[in-house]
Amino acid sequence: MGLLPSSTRSIPDISDVPRHIAVIMDGNGRWAKQRFMPRIMGHQRGVETLREVIRACRDLGVEYLTVFAFSSENWRRPLEEVNFLMSLFMKMLEREVANLHRNDIRLRIIGDRSRFDPKLVQAMTAAEQLTAGNKTFTLTVAANYGGRWDVMNAVQTMLREQPGLAQGFSEEDLTPYLSLSDEPEPDLFIRTGGEQRISNFMLWQLAYTELYFTEVLWPEFTRQELELAISSYRKRERRFGRTSEQLKARREGDDA
Ligand code: IPE
Ligand code: IPE
Ligand code: MG
Repeated sequence: MGLLPSSTRSIPDISDVPRHIAVIMDGNGRWAKQRFMPRIMGHQRGVETLREVIRACRDLGVEYLTVFAFSSENWRRPLEEVNFLMSLFMKMLEREVANLHRNDIRLRIIGDRSRFDPKLVQAMTAAEQLTAGNKTFTLTVAANYGGRWDVMNAVQTMLREQPGLAQGFSEEDLTPYLSLSDEPEPDLFIRTGGEQRISNFMLWQLAYTELYFTEVLWPEFTRQELELAISSYRKRERRFGRTSEQLKARREGDDA
């Protein structure tokens, strides 16, 4: 697939339904705590929410969903929780991939794999290969992902492959090396759990994404909550640097 126009280089086409949604699935630990359960129960429950959100996205006509599953900073958590998340990830890959494949869903995983157990890396690669040809929907899981890692990794890989660019390079030179450069940039970003921050998620790709924050904890994020986020998105005026008047003139021109 070729490169898609970047939101800072040209103005992308906008549709009523976001083509690409990026989600920080936050609040699992607090959800469990409220119920006097260990944090890991929240993560387990979060997997069910993800299943439902994938289904809802497909029904609504969203084409790409990217979810933050484990950040490059999440290694700082207690070892027990980190280990649980790793085994949950492995279990997901073992149990869910056939189901994704049956539903024509392509699975991608972004992030630095070098710190993962080789068995987990193997399962990730196998899942990606199996589903690579699927077309209806793309689910991307960000694991040991960090926005700064993404940019640094892109620059390093680019310079390794094209040492001549050390003299100077453009956005177009760099873009192909960034995660998901062959997908439209996210139209809508959702963070559950009440925090209003990016936490080192897709720093580059979110340049012109509409941001939506909700207090709802991830295990309680339903199809209705997703629809609320999308209806908030629909009310936004995506100007990409232009003025409202310019957009209005353009719309009137289209009608004429
Ligand atoms: C998000 O939920 C899931 C991961 C980071 C893996 P949290 O575990 O951060 O839940 P809270 O923020 O502590 O409630
Ligand atoms: C962001 O959530 C990462 C994921 C959801 C995987 P965190 O809960 O780790 O973020 P901070 O630490 O509160 O910013
Ligand atoms: Mg959190």
